[in-house]
This record gives sequence, structure tokens and C-alpha cells, in this order.
Amino acid sequence: MRLGGRIQAAAEVLEDVLERRTPVTMALRDWGKAHRFAGSKDRSAIGNIVLDALRRKSSIGFRMDDISPRALAIGAAVFSGGTTVEDILEQTEGDTHFGAPLTENQIAKLRGQIKLETAPEWVRADVPDWLWPAFETNFDEDAIVEGAALTERPPLDIRANALKATRDELSLEKAEPTAISPVGMRFPPVVGAGRHPNIQSDPDFLTGKLEIQDEGSQIVSLLVAAQPGEKVLDYCAGGGGKSLAIAGEMNNEGSIHAFDIDKRRLAPTYERAARAGATTIKVVQPPAKSLNNLRGNMDRVLVDAPCTGVGTWRRKPDAKWRLTEDALGRRMQEQVKVLDEAKNFVKPGGYLFYVTCSMLAAENEAQVYAFLERTSDFKLISAGEVWEDRFGTDVPKPWSADGCTLTLTPASTNTDGFFFAVMEKDA
Ligand SMILES: C[S@@+](CC[C@H](N)C(=O)[O-])C[C@H]1O[C@@H](n2cnc3c(N)ncnc32)[C@H](O)[C@@H]1O
Repeated sequence: MRLGGRIQAAAEVLEDVLERRTPVTMALRDWGKAHRFAGSKDRSAIGNIVLDALRRKSSIGFRMDDISPRALAIGAAVFSGGTTVEDILEQTEGDTHFGAPLTENQIAKLRGQIKLETAPEWVRADVPDWLWPAFETNFDEDAIVEGAALTERPPLDIRANALKATRDELSLEKAEPTAISPVGMRFPPVVGAGRHPNIQSDPDFLTGKLEIQDEGSQIVSLLVAAQPGEKVLDYCAGGGGKSLAIAGEMNNEGSIHAFDIDKRRLAPTYERAARAGATTIKVVQPPAKSLNNLRGNMDRVLVDAPCTGVGTWRRKPDAKWRLTEDALGRRMQEQVKVLDEAKNFVKPGGYLFYVTCSMLAAENEAQVYAFLERTSDFKLISAGEVWEDRFGTDVPKPWSADGCTLTLTPASTNTDGFFFAVMEKDA
């Protein structure tokens, strides 16, 4: 396919996402099925335009003075994808797959007629307007920078499974060691129509030497600081990503109970643990009463709570525009519930870790403080000290609103956004 056809295809996918509210992965898949002639290179190029357009939907709409799917696709190709206006004019001349040629007005907009600096702050940050006050309160004068960093293309991060390999032993061409996680390797964000390697077919993946895991997720798992021989409960284990990272730290000594209320989410953990050789992971199926024998018994309990996922907007940009105040409220109720349930498993003198992939104070600091208000036998300890013990002082620093909890963000740590807090139970 030529450039014009790819842009037009991206516009069709965006229409599906924005007007029919189809999740973007499904919309891209449907488009691919209906257009079998498109090769895998075309599909990734189209995917890049679509995801770029969603990451910067408001700022591109503002700069184009047009929020139609087609304007967003053309704007994304230029403002995010590095295509020049001349490229588009040259490559789409007479191309019926592109539809109508660019108008003079569109050309002027693509050449920067409307300056983004004149836009409202939430548009410059590409954060939904209803969420802007919360975002601004959180990040103050850095709010626009933090929002804009969430509109960048993400890298592809790998974690070396310490049970089978160090990161130096992995044969990953073009990947560099991650800046903070000592077990991570990073493929930089793709440029233009490029795509990341297919790691799932790599021999090192198939033999369990590596996992795909964002560096932020690796970091919060390492901050759990689980020691060989300890008993750990991963209370919201999902597909087991953090359990697996913790297992690598514990050298297969001790136990990690991986539990989730949703057994479908938990299901891949069996296979992933087997591939990784993580024999300490014991998957515990719901209901929660299967965990009764662990009450008051765990050295460390990790709550990787259900959340809005604001910190993963680079990877799932459609979620940004789909998020509602109601959904935020529901996640906050779930967070209260998981914290109140999970605390019962911590042994006296043990630790409770609260993690989200959100960057909103309402889901983060506010949840921790409210928990401490209603729970007398836990105290907050300095996550900054845990960080320094683990990573030293020579690495990029996360954000901290209170000096005690940590928020990793794309702008501060060049990772997905994650919140991390640690509480100790009275001995
Ligand atoms: C952020 S995800 C966990 C991701 C996972 N830890 C990982 O690293 O891949 C949050 C999980 O919490 C689970 N969850 C929600 N409410 C829960 C509850 N009351 N008890 C246990 N798990 C719950 C959800 O099913 C979801 O899988």
C-alpha cells in the first residue's frame, strides 16, 4: 500500500473507534480481516497512525481545526509520524485510495498555521478536559509536560528472567539496558512506519529467559524487595506479570501465591510460570476464601489494584478518551475493597504494598491515606528509601507528591506511569 491508502485506512479505523466506540485493537483487527491484501508492514504502519492520532487527539484536532477521523489521521502522519507535507502531496498525487487531495486550508494547518501554544492547557497536554483539574493539582507546573509525555510512542521493554538468564546473556539486537531496572532491556519507540520485533517468537522468550514487561512494572515488582525464603501474596495477580518478576528476585526459594478475583485473567499465569521455571508460584483460584489459610501469615502482600490505567495511555490511547468520572469512581471503590481484604494476610511486622498504573492522586495517595485513617495497625514507610536501597541515587528519580510515596511517569522515569507505596504492619 502507498502512503495515501494507509492514511485513508487509518481514518476508517479511527471512525470505528471514535464514532462506534470500538476498542482500537479490535478495530485494527477488523480492518485487517476485511482487507486481506494489506501486508503486515501496512498493518503496522496503519496502526502507528491510528495510535498516534488517539494519543494526540485533542492537540491534533486543535492544530487541524478539524476533529474528523480523516483530519486526525493526516495530522498524526505529519505531527507524530514524521511525514512531511511535501511527502503527502508528492505521494498522494492522483492516488484515488487517498480520497480527495489535500486542500489549501489543510496544507496551511499541516504547515503549522495554528500554534499549539495558543490552545487551552488540557489540549496541549492531550488530557480529557474533565480530568484536567485533577491532573493539574497533581503535577502542578509540570502537568503539561507530564500529559504530553503520555502522548509519546512507548518503547518495548523486556525483563530478563533471573532464574534462567542475566540481561547480558539475552541475544536481543537493537535493545539497550534499561536505565533503572537492572534486569531490563529496551527497544526504543518505533520511528515512522516502523514496528517492534516479534518477541513472542524469539527462542529466548519460548525458553523462558525473558518476558515482555514495561520497565515501570519491573521496578515496582523489584521494590517489593522479596527475599529468598519469604512468603509473598500477589493479591491482584492478573496474568502474573509481577509474580513472575518477584519470582526472579527470590531465586525460587520461598512461595508466591498468585490470586485474582477473575480466573480468566489469572489463567495465563500457569503457562507463564512453567515457561519461566518459577516453581515458587502457586496460583490460587477464586473465591477469596481459598486464601483463608494464609491469613496473618505473609511476609509481603502486593496489591496491584484495579485502576483507570492513566499511566498506560501511551500503549492504550483509546482508554484515555473512553474514561468517565463514573468509571473512576468504580475503580476507587474497588481499591478500597482490595486494600481492606488484602491487609488481612500480612503477618505482624510484614509489609503491604499498594501499586496502581494510575497517575491520579484520587487512586493513589488519597487511597493510601484513607486506608491508614481507617486501619490502626499499619504505618506508611518511606518508599524513597526503599528506592535508594534498591536502585541507588544515580538513576532518574520518580515523582513524589508527599516525599513518602512514589509515582513513576513517562516524563520523570521514562516508564509507564505507576504509583508505589509501602506500609508496615505493627509487630
Ligand atoms: C492492574 S490489574 C493486575 C495486573 C497484574 N498484577 C500484572 O502485573 O499483570 C488488577 C487486577 O485486580 C483484579 N481484582 C479486582 N478486584 C479484585 C478483588 N476484589 N480481589 C482480587 N483481585 C481483584 C482484577 O481482576 C485485575 O486482574
